[in-house]
Amino acid sequence: MCGIFGYTGKKEAQPLVIQGLKQLEYRGYDSSGIAMQNGSNAIRVVKTYGKIKNLEEILNKQPLKGTTAVGHTRWATHGTPSKENAHPHLDKENQIAVVHNGIIENYFDLKKTLQEEGVRFRSETDTEVIVHLVAKYYKGNLENAVRRALRDVHGTYAIAVITSAEPGKIVAAKLDSPLVIGKGENENYVASDVSAILEYTNQVIYLENGEVVTLMRDSCEITNLAGKPISRQPVKINWDVTQAKKGGFPHYMLKEIFEQPGILTAILKERVRGYEIHFDELKIPAAALKKVKRIVIIACGTAYHAGLVGKYIFEEFTDIPVWVDTSSEFRYRDPKVGPDTLVIAISQSGETADTLAGVREAKRKKALTLTICNVLGSSLSREAKGVIYTHAGPEIAVASTKAYTAQLAVLYLLGLYLSQNFKTMKESARRELLKEFLHVPQLMRSFLDEYKRDEKNWEKNAHDFNVRYHEQLDKYYSADPDKRKRAPNGFFLYLGRNINYPNAIEGALKLKEISYIPAEGYPSGEMKHGPIALIDENPWVICIAPESKTYDKMISNIQEIKARSGYIVPIVTEGNEDIQRLNPAYVIEIPRVSEIFSPLLTVLPLQLLAYCVANEFGEDIDQPRNLAKSVTVE
Ligand code: M6R
Repeated sequence: MCGIFGYTGKKEAQPLVIQGLKQLEYRGYDSSGIAMQNGSNAIRVVKTYGKIKNLEEILNKQPLKGTTAVGHTRWATHGTPSKENAHPHLDKENQIAVVHNGIIENYFDLKKTLQEEGVRFRSETDTEVIVHLVAKYYKGNLENAVRRALRDVHGTYAIAVITSAEPGKIVAAKLDSPLVIGKGENENYVASDVSAILEYTNQVIYLENGEVVTLMRDSCEITNLAGKPISRQPVKINWDVTQAKKGGFPHYMLKEIFEQPGILTAILKERVRGYEIHFDELKIPAAALKKVKRIVIIACGTAYHAGLVGKYIFEEFTDIPVWVDTSSEFRYRDPKVGPDTLVIAISQSGETADTLAGVREAKRKKALTLTICNVLGSSLSREAKGVIYTHAGPEIAVASTKAYTAQLAVLYLLGLYLSQNFKTMKESARRELLKEFLHVPQLMRSFLDEYKRDEKNWEKNAHDFNVRYHEQLDKYYSADPDKRKRAPNGFFLYLGRNINYPNAIEGALKLKEISYIPAEGYPSGEMKHGPIALIDENPWVICIAPESKTYDKMISNIQEIKARSGYIVPIVTEGNEDIQRLNPAYVIEIPRVSEIFSPLLTVLPLQLLAYCVANEFGEDIDQPRNLAKSVTVE
């Protein structure tokens, strides 16, 4: 939540900061701002409500000149989204500016003390206390003042600070919010995420918790909070900068959906050698894994849904029992995990606050911890004992797609790896599964090719939904108010069984987060226990019904919906002939694949359906309202 970008060097800083903030806009987009050193004895700040383009418009008319600046794009926690609450925040002399990502938990007490000392606050944010504290402790050296101020602060932060008194200097620090330094030639960058600096350098340093960095254009000095120097070499990032661009697609989400077959191919190529699976970066010896008696998977949102699929995979491929929990629930119960438990934390960003806290709780209880995450060097990858990277490249759209299938791919491979270690499966069976898995990216590609051929039809179906939706609303509102019974059920219901049940909730999540249309995902067997009461001719019921051991049960469930006038959209295996008898609204066919791998195929139409509906409704697909890409606060 919130993106920070800073630059110091020889170039004009304003365009770089704007470009960097645009790359970080997925982290929050309710207001933004920039603070510039321009040689005078005051810092110049421009900030505004809304997206970066609003800031850009103002700056185009009145550019800020200078070569050292920090910028911020905000996702509001304390204080409404407004110009006043937008970062950067200034001290009372306008000589120090701070941008911040995180939450200062004791800000209320700090604010009270500072007010008693005569400070007048200009915003409702928690962040503003930081700048006043830095000003209070400032005696000619910014890093000393920052270190001193941070001793008063409780909470989480990634900050970048500049002062007009020390030209060319940016001081940044972090605790539990991400911050990365980009080392260039005669210039240095600081940002919340590598994707913002990749265009300029691939030499990066991940700042650790409790560290403070002083950046000048030709130096980068890291210390701990006590001022002790820390030496760290940059790491080279192999992500290609074009991966963080739209590449001709109208939205990042669509581009990322189409990247999936290529990502899976690359994952398989990297991890599978002959019939053996290799996780070179895992750091957990096979002997330690052999002691594992149970697995607990923790994650949030889409990554949690991947974890649910993981349960089916591990329980099919091994004889280890598996539990799956949302990180926010896991961390506050008293989870029964210990030295015989493998806790797997799944996360695209590797920065999700609850998942990070869950791993810490698991470590406290002596469990073995492993993270499956996408971002190299992220907090989770450093916190967990072991790591497996998904290598899906930067995921920019807030709605996660390619990270999900990459997580699934790693879970399949991990399941096969464990079965190889534990010998829980006949070697011939394991090889057959692996052979089929190697073929799955090709099936995904052929489904997406088919979508491209049939794109107009998908758009038409989304349009039909829009028309039906508004007709129903019109009918309702034009009726005599006394005769109105209730609003029409303009919503989507997603049903799935067994290993495709998690995709039902994933499909519903995708739709609601980008189109704001209510959607529910359910295991179909639960229909009769309540949700069937919702069925009439209004909701769209997406039935995930590929060939599987529960296919007949699924068909019975579809019939029950049909008998109540339900509007059904089944997702079936190609060549299915019986589904037409149920007179569906339309049918989506996926290529034939074993049930165990089918989630990798059935999720594609769910992602595309959400995309098409949101596009038809004209929503901001890549940056849906109220959301941010990484949830680094609780
Ligand atoms: O970075 P993470 O994978 O830990 O993020 C978890 C969720 O915040 C994330 O999956 C979220 O639910 C997405 N917006 C879903 O599309």
